[in-house]
Parts: sequence; structure tokens; C-alpha cells
Amino acid sequence: MLFELWKHPPPAASVFRRDGQVVVASHRLARQVLADRERFSAANALDAITPIPAASLRELARHRFRLPATLANNDTASHEWIRASFGEVFAPANVEALRPWLHGLARRTAAGVAWRLRAGETVDVDAAVSSEIPLAALARLLGLEVEAASEVKRFSRAALELFWGHPSPERQRELAEVVGPFHALLRGWAAESTGATRELREAYGEDAATAALFFLLVAGQETTSQFLTLLLHRLVEEPGLLAAAPAAVVEEGLRLLPPITSWRRVARRDTELGGLAIREGESILVWLAAAGMDEGVAECPAAMVPGQRGSRRHLAFGAGAHRCLGSQLSRLEAEVVIAELAPLLPRCEVVEAPLSEDNLSFRMPSPLLIRYR
Ligand code: HEM
Repeated sequence: MLFELWKHPPPAASVFRRDGQVVVASHRLARQVLADRERFSAANALDAITPIPAASLRELARHRFRLPATLANNDTASHEWIRASFGEVFAPANVEALRPWLHGLARRTAAGVAWRLRAGETVDVDAAVSSEIPLAALARLLGLEVEAASEVKRFSRAALELFWGHPSPERQRELAEVVGPFHALLRGWAAESTGATRELREAYGEDAATAALFFLLVAGQETTSQFLTLLLHRLVEEPGLLAAAPAAVVEEGLRLLPPITSWRRVARRDTELGGLAIREGESILVWLAAAGMDEGVAECPAAMVPGQRGSRRHLAFGAGAHRCLGSQLSRLEAEVVIAELAPLLPRCEVVEAPLSEDNLSFRMPSPLLIRYR
């Protein structure tokens, strides 16, 4: 169940134990866990849920792979500094300044998709839209020259499977052979970086700068890519939703189709949550998707009603000291993409719907294929 949380409706119990995790499903308790740093640490956020066997660890080590406390998994003293430093990069004004460029990129992308659809082609939305735009925006903000987008996508999907999936030992080895070399490449980027990454390297060393790039290259584009595929699928199926303002559609999408279905914390000490005794060191799985659909969060919690009261009260971006630094960026990207593709979507039909791979936290949809009706 934990590897396919997205399939399950919100449970009746607000907190329960399952497969080695304390699962928190109610909005109130989920928010409490995420925001309470005294009792719950984020240190386990990037731990591999399926233990990595020695052969794969050796493969990672061969490429000097290290994942010290960086952003999402950092509850040490350096977190505040690192967060403030990247916080400037993703500050609202910097993100908003991307709007005209993003519209231009999304408009050109939509024109290319329309041309192919008119020619009778079936279009892979993932390859044509969802994968490209978030990575281009992230690279622009971070000042990275990403030449081979497909390589970054291959690496980030491999990292999500290695750390949050349940691959076999053979598959883990294959994944390590992708993640290891890419990590080594990131180390090179970190060594030559400018701006926030350079400041981090100078203050905390090369490992810290490489780890931050590793996390940002995964979290900063794969999440939004997955979200776009899921939301565009819903909009092709239900074009009536396009009558609402794109920003309102995006918000309901985040509430009902969050690309990160769950996120972990670890208990710092023996404590209690919703009547359940919790031991120090237990892993807490915060079921973000269930929290967004909880009674009382929105007026119609299970229905997609753009603009409804409570629409923004979801926890898709987490909460507290580790709340997502890219929330504004991903909202803007999704809003612009929806606005630019809106004229095409009502004429489309789904040829192949995206299916999610088993994964503890990420939706990992397969490509969405569409064509003109
Ligand atoms: C729809 C897209 C996205 C979703 C659903 C999402 C979700 C999340 C979640 C659930 C967390 C953990 C929050 C917590 O522990 O309380 C997080 C952390 C983070 N996200 Fe995102 N994210 C998205 C896009 C992005 C983008 C585009 C960026 C960067 C450009 C980004 C950067 C970060 C960073 C840096 C953190 C760690 C912050 C910290 O620990 O201080 N995310 N995100």
C-alpha cells in the first residue's frame, strides 16, 4: 500500500502503523508533524527506503557519491544558512521576472504540439511539454548550462527510483550506474559554479555544494514535470475545468494530484500523536495527498472545483522550516503551461493514460499520449 498511496482514498484513521512507518493522514496531524521541529526531524527525508546492497553502494562510492545533510534532509545548524542562500535564488521577484520568458517558451512549445496534432500525430506530452519547461526554468535560475536535458531526466528518474522505490538488487545496481556517474558530473558543476552554489562550496565544502545541486536538480524539476503530466491528463479528460483561471486550476491540481504523495520525518524522542505512542527513531510518513482531501480542508474536499474555499490549504509543498522553496516557481510554470495549452486541450483525446510506478513518495507517471479527436 505505501508504494501506491495515490491509489488509495484517505483512510478513516488519522494516524496508524503500516510496514514500518507511522502513517499520518489527517490534515491537522500532518501539519503538526511537518511543522514541529522539536519532536520530528527531517533528517531521514532522503534516506533510501529500500536498503541499498553493498554492490550498489560500492558503485556509488566509486563515483564519490555522498549525500550529506543538504536542504530537505538537513536539521543541522547549516540548514538555515543554505536555505537562506538558495531562498534568494528562488525569491518571488526572481521567479516573477521569469514570467514573460516562460510564456514565450510555453507558447512556442504549444505551437509545436499543435502543429504535430494537426498533422495527425500522437504526441507524448511528457517529452514535448512536461520534461522540458521545468528543467529549462530551473537551469535559468541557477545559472546552469544544461545541454543534455534527456540525461538529466534519466538521472533524476533513476534517483527517485533508487531512493524512494523498491527496486530489486539487480535494478539497484543498474540505477547506481546511472546515479553515480551523474553525481560525479554534478561535482564538476559544483566546482565551477557561481552564485549560491559557489557560496555554499566556499562555506561548507564541495560535498555540501554537490549535494545541494543533486537535490535541486531532482526536486526542482522532476516534481513539476510529474505534476504537469498528471494535471494535463485530468484537463484532457475534463476540459470543462479550463473555464476557470489557470492559477485556480493549478491550486486544485496540487491539492488533489500532488506529485509528492508523502514525505518523511523521524521522531526525535518518544512522543505521542493522535493518541498513538511513538518511539524515538520511528519513521513518520506524512500522507500529503490524503491531508489535502481531508474533511474540512476545502468545501468539497474530494471534488476538483477550481477556486473553491480552502483550495490553497493543501500540504503539497510541506510545511514549517523545510517548506518547499520552489512553490512559487512550480505554481508559475504550471499556470503558464495551462494557459498556453488551454486552446488545444478540448480538441484532444487520451491515447495512453499515464500510469504511476510503485514509489513511496513520487507519483512517477509514465508518458501521457494524446491526439486530436
Ligand atoms: C509541484 C512541484 C513541487 C512540489 C509538489 C514540491 C514539494 C516539496 C515538498 C513536499 C518538500 C518537503 C517539505 C517539507 O519537508 O516540509 C519540498 C522541499 C523542497 N523543495 Fe519542492 N516541490 C516542488 C517543486 C520544487 C521546485 C520547482 C523547487 C526548486 C526550484 C523545489 C525546491 C525545494 C527545496 C529546496 C526544498 C527543501 C527546502 C528545505 O528543506 O528547506 N521544489 N518540496
